[in-house]
Amino acid sequence: MKNILVIGGGAMGSAFTIPSLENKNNVTITEPYSKRFIKDLSSKKKFHSALQIKLPKQLKFRRFSKNLLKENFDLIVIALSLPGIDFIGKELKDLKIKTPILILTKGLKFEKKYNKILTISEQLKKNYNLKNISVLKGPCLAKELARKNKTSVIIANKNMSIAKSIGRKISTKYYLTEYSKDVVGVEVCSAIKNIYSMIIGAGQSLNSSSNLFQKSVLEMRYLNRYFKGKDETIFGLAGVGDMYVSAAGGRNSKMGSFLGKGFTFKNAKKKFMPKDTVEGEQLIREIAPYIIKKINKKKIPLMTNLFQAILKNKKLNIN
Ligand SMILES: NC(=O)c1ccc[n+]([C@@H]2O[C@H](COP(=O)([O-])OP(=O)(O)OC[C@H]3O[C@@H](n4cnc5c(N)ncnc54)[C@H](O)[C@@H]3O)[C@@H](O)[C@H]2O)c1
Repeated sequence: MKNILVIGGGAMGSAFTIPSLENKNNVTITEPYSKRFIKDLSSKKKFHSALQIKLPKQLKFRRFSKNLLKENFDLIVIALSLPGIDFIGKELKDLKIKTPILILTKGLKFEKKYNKILTISEQLKKNYNLKNISVLKGPCLAKELARKNKTSVIIANKNMSIAKSIGRKISTKYYLTEYSKDVVGVEVCSAIKNIYSMIIGAGQSLNSSSNLFQKSVLEMRYLNRYFKGKDETIFGLAGVGDMYVSAAGGRNSKMGSFLGKGFTFKNAKKKFMPKDTVEGEQLIREIAPYIIKKINKKKIPLMTNLFQAILKNKKLNIN
């Protein structure tokens, strides 16, 4: 039995606790930010409002604190959304923790200091001096995982034995783990699929979405090579695997469908999705200025067009 701490009581962090508990671990969850999730997790019934299920009784909830982070865990899992990464980096920075860290968060960040786009693990290593970081990505809808629908994900670490030892702690019959050494490729693919699922969603028929899907894969390959990821990752769970699930449903492809119908981004957001976070949009705002400067737009015409639609509020012109 291992002691696992999950930081982030949103949909994904909470769903992740289910296979971890079933694998006979001692699992603690903590929530540093959202009053709603603190209320859900600290209630007797443990009904999770985003997952719409009761979480297992054995799951322990603890208030977030620096002292909690200092306790003896065998694995720390970070399941915050992107804006929470700097926050948790600062909290963990000086604790000199040797515990393996597993990141579920998807995204990339432009770092002014280095004039570079960093993956999340690079950010935590460079800016906050954290060590022993692995990443877990892939096609995983939190609601499906929470209902124990079969899900396959990929854990990446340059040291495969660490990735596999994490896999042994968390996998079950319905939560299957693959492994990769291509940390940068896995992180890049799992982030940019949010942009390409918006593009595929803009297709106004299955035929046109399939065409956009195929062209998106080629652009993803170009970008992944630019960041020094491996081609095999594009064709794996973090690449086309995750892109399929995001393009088939979800907020990115929903926004894409409105853009494809001719709405501008601002109108579509206001009219149809005023309260929704569209991760692809956030990522575009983060990385577009760098990509526009550094990457030949002829190599990534779909992404370049979507940049115009989001940043300049122009009509999307890809169909
Ligand atoms: N690796 C995977 O298998 C996988 C699967 C699904 C989602 N995800 C990723 O997991 C992350 C969380 O997704 P989710 O569905 O749980 O989202 P969610 O909105 O349900 O939860 C977001 C979490 O981040 C926290 N948070 C948000 N803003 C914060 C801030 N400024 N400071 C600190 N904490 C903050 C929230 O309190 C909450 O704990 C996303 O990056 C998503 O892409 C990963």
